[in-house]
Formats: sequence, C-alpha cells, structure tokens
Amino acid sequence: MGNLVSISDSSILIGADQPPTVRAPEIEAGVGCDFDSYLLVPDNALDDRIAAAKARLGQDVVILGHHYQRDEVVKFADFRGDSLKLSFQASQAEGRYIVFCGVHFMAESADILRREHQTVVLPDLNAGCSMADMADIGQVEACWRELSSLGNLNITPVTYMNSTAAIKAFTGEHGGAVCTSSNAAAVMKWAFESREKVLFLPDEHLGRNTAYRMGIPLEQMIVWDPYQEFGGNTPEAIRNARVILWKGYCSVHQRFTPQQVERVRRQHPGIRVIAHPECRFEVAQAADAIGSTEGIIKAIEASPVGTEWAVGTEIHLVNRLGKELKNHKVISLDPSVCVCTTMFRITPQHLLWALENLGEGNVVNRISVDERTRHYARVALDRMLSLR
Ligand code: 13P
Ligand code: SF4
Repeated sequence: MGNLVSISDSSILIGADQPPTVRAPEIEAGVGCDFDSYLLVPDNALDDRIAAAKARLGQDVVILGHHYQRDEVVKFADFRGDSLKLSFQASQAEGRYIVFCGVHFMAESADILRREHQTVVLPDLNAGCSMADMADIGQVEACWRELSSLGNLNITPVTYMNSTAAIKAFTGEHGGAVCTSSNAAAVMKWAFESREKVLFLPDEHLGRNTAYRMGIPLEQMIVWDPYQEFGGNTPEAIRNARVILWKGYCSVHQRFTPQQVERVRRQHPGIRVIAHPECRFEVAQAADAIGSTEGIIKAIEASPVGTEWAVGTEIHLVNRLGKELKNHKVISLDPSVCVCTTMFRITPQHLLWALENLGEGNVVNRISVDERTRHYARVALDRMLSLR
C-alpha cells in the first residue's frame, strides 16, 4: 500500500497520487492548475449589455484596462497598457468619467492626474494590491524618523507606482519620485544625481533588480523590515548602504522560482525566459531578460518568428500573448496558474454595473484622493512623467 492511508473504502486517500483531473477546455495544457483553469474560462454573457451601456455614455466615458485584466473586461478598454502607459492615458483622457479596470492604486493615480471636471471609477473597490498594502504610511513615516535620527543621510525616497496615494504624497513631499517597472532605472538614476541614497518602496525585488542592473553591488543594499527597530539593521549598515529596500513583495511574482527556469529550459531546449522585475533576484538572474509588462510584450514581438518564450508574469497577459502573437509560442514559467486575484475582481458584472449607473447619472465607486495628498502625490508623479 506504500504511502497510501485508507480512511474508509469510500473516502479520499491522503498522500495518494492524485488521479489526473480535468482542465477547463479552453486553457492550454500545462498552463493552469485544475480549478484555477476554470476561473479563466471567459464569461461573455454580458457583452451586449456592456457594449450598449458604453455606447450610451459615448464620449463621456474612457475605459482604461491593465494588461492583467481578464479578456472579457479588457476588450472594452479604450486604452490597454501597463501602469505607466495607463497613467499617461489618465492624464490625457477626454471624457467625464474614467472607468479604471485595474487595481486601487492605479485608480488613485488616475484621480491624482485627472483634470478638474473628471471622475474616476473603480468597478470593484475590493480590487486592491497586496504589495501596496505592505507599506503603510505610518510605518513609512516611522522609518523616515529613524533614518533621520542618524543624521542627514541624504536619502531620496522612490516609490513604485504600486503604492497608496499617501505613500506617493510622502515621496513627493520629501523630494522623491514615483517609478513604474518600465522606468525604475531612469528614476533611480535621477535620484542618485542629487542625493547619495535611495529608500525604495514598497517592492524589495524591483528595487534590488533595478539597482543591481545599474551596477550597484548587493553589499550596498539593505532590506528595511518595518516590524523591526531600524528595519532590522545596525546604524553602521544603514550609513554604508546606498539602497534601502522596503520589505514588500508581489504575491503573484514572488511565486516564480529559479527551479522553474531550470525546468522549462530542460523541457523546451532553446526557449527564452523573460521575467517581470517584481520576481526575486535569483529568477531575474536566471532569466534571459527582465521586462515590465510593456517590456515583455515588446521583447516577444521583436523576437524572430518561431521563438519560444516562457514568461514570468501574471497569467492573463501570458495567455493573451499566447493567443495574439501567432508567430511565437508563449507559455507561463509557472505550470500552475499565477492569477492576480485582486485584478481578477473586476468582473464583467462590475463593469456593467458601473457603466449602467453612470448612464443613469449615478457615480458609483468613485475614487477620490483628498486635496493635500493629491497635491504632493502629483509632485512625485509629475517628476516621474517628466523623466519619460
Ligand atoms: P506594470 O508596471 O508592469 O504595469 O506592473 C503593474 C503590476 O501590478 C505588476 O504587478
Ligand atoms: Fe499587486 Fe502583484 Fe497584483 Fe500587481 S500583480 S496588482 S503587484 S498583487
């Protein structure tokens, strides 16, 4: 009987090899784990109503869709992009209503960049971001106070777009800038032109991967754990560091491992591996290339016909690239589905509900950042946008 434990004749066998299970038919074999693959089956039942509600609003509405959104939502987007591209679209959008199909911090950024007469709507307020939640403004202020207690360390805060408006405002107020995964190196370079150190929030991995590629050795980077005094560092280590990395991460991208890179290379000789810079350092090192979501798309599009790619990022983008880029083969680096469950909260039902209400003149799920926060967050965002 080996390692099988029989509870009763009709019970499940704990420790047994699982019988082969069934996947949702539209999902490419090897991409999804069993139930999650069913989550990815498109739900197009509301297409006609969404199209009609959108048509009724006409020029009054602009729908922005992040690449990680499900197909049946993103197909209604007037603009599709990564967070940098969408922040430009938000700053230039016409239309009274900006319906943001993405997550909370993105809609907040759109509200900070919008024009006076515009209103930003997030179809489901539960669409947050676990990484953004890892840097609380109280913790960041406490960190800054502790750092300041060591004297003038000449630090510029740089915050990833994936942070709350309060953190962006803190950054703006303290001479820093926002960055996205597309322009993190340009923003860090800008930061080092005026001060000696960078406090990078809230993604440890993006900060480390970016700084390392800029030639900063790992020994000159420390991690700041907000739950420990001085972030768990000695004053000497802080004085010697050039980059202070906030201990935050993306629950989706942190799942990719160097072992997966090895496996995919073994199983698909000649395959190219590209990973989002939110992946851990070891994965970024093992990959052939690192790219923001837009960077991943461009790299695959520009590669020779027939190139095979394993991609370390959110599954909706990977699947879409697999479908749309017919001249290339695109698979996920992780054989089990890597869904951003908060992006996934924007359903066709939520989009329809938001649009139909706007059509009736009811603004639902408005994202509104208070004036003071908006002012300083805008300073930090404008610094980033001017570095384009
Ligand atoms: P991008 O900056 O590449 O759009 O990334 C946003 C994001 O949430 C990645 O996890
Ligand atoms: Fe946040 Fe990660 Fe989802 Fe991006 S993929 S929104 S960082 S949880």
